Amino acid sequence: MALAIEIRDLRFRYPGAAVDCLDIELLRVEAGARVFLYGPSGSGKSTLLSLIGGVIQVQQGTLNLLGKNIAHMRPTICDRLRADHIGFIFQQFNLIPYLSVMDNVLLPCRFSSRRQQRALAEGGTLPETARRLLSHLQLENTEHIPVTQLSVGQQQRVAAARALIGKPEIVIADEPTSALDTDRQSAFLDLLLQECAEANAALIFVSHNRQLATQFHYEIALPSINRAVPVGCVV
Ligand SMILES: Nc1ncnc2c1ncn2[C@@H]1O[C@H](COP(=O)(O)OP(=O)(O)OP(=O)(O)O)[C@@H](O)[C@H]1O
Ligand SMILES: [Mg+2]
Repeated sequence: MALAIEIRDLRFRYPGAAVDCLDIELLRVEAGARVFLYGPSGSGKSTLLSLIGGVIQVQQGTLNLLGKNIAHMRPTICDRLRADHIGFIFQQFNLIPYLSVMDNVLLPCRFSSRRQQRALAEGGTLPETARRLLSHLQLENTEHIPVTQLSVGQQQRVAAARALIGKPEIVIADEPTSALDTDRQSAFLDLLLQECAEANAALIFVSHNRQLATQFHYEIALPSINRAVPVGCVV
């Protein structure tokens, strides 16, 4: 089966830190796989996702995304790969505060013509595709609202719509349900899983709520694959 993500001998240390944050010999995520990643606070989950998402640069080792090694890739080429193929739901959402819901959701299509083409291929205009996603996420009639006027749970769903538009092959979700009550958590997760399945996207989903893990193909405890023990990580 084709691999969406392959990590080999990856090591990462924050500048000035005394010890490595990550030291991973092997991690493979197949195309379309839905993976639940967990581990204690400070164990490096967000750091790993940031490396996969190209937010921070690989220092040592191999990180293949869709068969291309992004370690040592020129930043502009890496940015293109990321914009074209990765949807990222950040732990802090990272929505653009001065843009409306609609403009936030359409942002990846502005940065990637591939995402734009794939969004258009669903039929209809870009705003129509965005509206479909927003309505799946129970955000009808919010498109003109500035995102700062939304609740945390609503912002989280806007971040999900933005990650999913244009059907990226890899979706990364860093504790996207932490601010939601139990009912909303499972509704949000259902929608995310459904959209990823439709797009055959590989999903890496981080959460402290192990009960959610049953809905994934498999789960990975980060400390079980990470030979480094980051400072402040209580295992
Ligand atoms: N920007 C940074 N600069 C220096 N060290 C950092 C930075 N971000 C994280 N770290 C350190 O890296 C380690 C892993 O942090 P990370 O945020 O990846 O953990 P996490 O597993 O996502 O935790 P949480 O569950 O609390 O979100 C911690 O020891 C943290 O202090
Ligand atoms: Mg984190």
